[in-house]
Amino acid sequence: MAQLKRRWWKEGVVYQIYPRSFQDTSGNGIGDLKGITKRLDYIKSLGVNIIWLCPVYESPNDDNGYDIADYRKIMAEFGTMQDFDDLLAEMKLRGLKLVMDLVANHTSDEHFWFQESRKSRDNEYRDYYHWWPAEKGTPPKRWSYFDIDANAWKYDEKTDSHYLHYFSVKQPDLKWENPAVRKEVYDMLRFWFDKGVDGFRMDVIPFISKDTTYPELPKEFGGDFIPFYSNGPRLHEFLNEMNNEVLSKYDIMTVGEALGVTIDQALNFVDEDRKELNMFFHFDLMSLDRDGNEAFWMQSDQWKLTEFKEIHSKWDAVFSEKGWGTMYLNNHDFPRAVSRWGNDSKEHWRNSATMLQTFLLTMRGTPFFYFGEEIGMTNANFERLDDYKDINTLNRYKLLQQQNIDLEDFIENEKKASRDNARTPMQWSLDTHAGFTNNTPWIKVNPNYKTGINVEEQEKQSDSVLNYFRKMVKIRKSHLGLIYGGYQLVLPENEQVYAYTRSLDTERYLILLSFSEESTQVAIDDIEFSKADLLISNDECQTEKTNHQFTLKPYQAVVYQLH
Ligand code: GLC
Repeated sequence: MAQLKRRWWKEGVVYQIYPRSFQDTSGNGIGDLKGITKRLDYIKSLGVNIIWLCPVYESPNDDNGYDIADYRKIMAEFGTMQDFDDLLAEMKLRGLKLVMDLVANHTSDEHFWFQESRKSRDNEYRDYYHWWPAEKGTPPKRWSYFDIDANAWKYDEKTDSHYLHYFSVKQPDLKWENPAVRKEVYDMLRFWFDKGVDGFRMDVIPFISKDTTYPELPKEFGGDFIPFYSNGPRLHEFLNEMNNEVLSKYDIMTVGEALGVTIDQALNFVDEDRKELNMFFHFDLMSLDRDGNEAFWMQSDQWKLTEFKEIHSKWDAVFSEKGWGTMYLNNHDFPRAVSRWGNDSKEHWRNSATMLQTFLLTMRGTPFFYFGEEIGMTNANFERLDDYKDINTLNRYKLLQQQNIDLEDFIENEKKASRDNARTPMQWSLDTHAGFTNNTPWIKVNPNYKTGINVEEQEKQSDSVLNYFRKMVKIRKSHLGLIYGGYQLVLPENEQVYAYTRSLDTERYLILLSFSEESTQVAIDDIEFSKADLLISNDECQTEKTNHQFTLKPYQAVVYQLH
């Protein structure tokens, strides 16, 4: 057996839902909790067993729920607490686990704590947030996402002070240095765990600790705020305390969103002996095809497969004896996987979507799929600013406008890069609005639901992206070696094919993934294809049995069990 301890969250497959875009049942054009409940049988049929639900709490939706006004209430647009309890109960009946989103680096400015905090300098909630009194002069520069001035300090007239917000002006940062804040967060976590929730994905968790002397950005960060934000002095103390106080008391899973965390720091978060988190998402792949910093990245189509491999090989090695990794190719913050890492042209869409699924399901680390990935949903490529809903696109547009930067270039880039690419509604059927709603959807539906990218049609085709996904999930779940087995890169220099083996005790697998539009031949000396069992392939296989060669069709994926 593997040296790594078996855990349900290591053996699970996660399905992430952006509730706004999944299924509307109330007829307001916005997805809701009842819609998720309605689709639970479908989700179960995929073979996934954990749902990560993006925020469903009360929120003014400045950042679509990542600005929480009440941690213990459900957003009215999504339904009621009764709807939530029903959803959870129905999930339990089907053996599905529920992971919620913990957004506690910041709240909404409409949260009661902030409403109080801004009232006066001696309000009992004053110290729940970071304030800089104006008489001290201009506060040291802090950079902000989603801010039209990229300035994380916002002047608030009422108390003649500035408050800190790493995200939008409506997302003031909580002051974790205040023990009362930490107690509030832990109580809130208990509230959800006591309902039966199975874990949390922790939003920008490395940002929670701040140096409250607010120094100038230290030189060692070379002008880059992200690594500075993720290296707060008391971060690990807080995570450890949260684990001691709450997390360790329940059989739950935690996964941090680890912006700014490097390989060297990885085990500080997830080494079991440190008692902090179970897993986290690193961002190395997400920046592979982007230039610039977090605010002004340009999305490019130019990236090298050898670099893609190197990132995954390095991260796999970190967790080979301790901790545990995650695998993901997209989420609600990034463009769709098949458009970004595969090829969404008519010709290559099917193979590349299934090839990428094969990749996630044959690597070590818990695989996270984002709703619609199972049917190969693609980028929206919105042409007009009016079609965009995301504060990240809209406020950066305003910021660049002030700087007289070419906005046509910006929109051209957003077509590939915007978060809204991943936020268009789930494509259920050929019905109006893809069966998502019978009203006007809050964001446009991708018209390609009419050309095969919908659940209804794919259900009927045995070789659809959807049915391939189901088969591949089954294969992962029934071969422990694909979950815990060691990973070994084969053909490291090859720019067309990603090949690797996975092995656990006597089990051994070979995975071949073509990232090329052309047919590609590979030769692997120590593997005899004639003696191997083909577990799955997304296309016909052409092996040259005698000479250890294999010819991969464009974007072909193959998994062999070796003997
Ligand atoms: C995380 C979320 C993102 C959100 C931001 C602020 O990066 O994934 O959607 O906008 O945090 O909460």
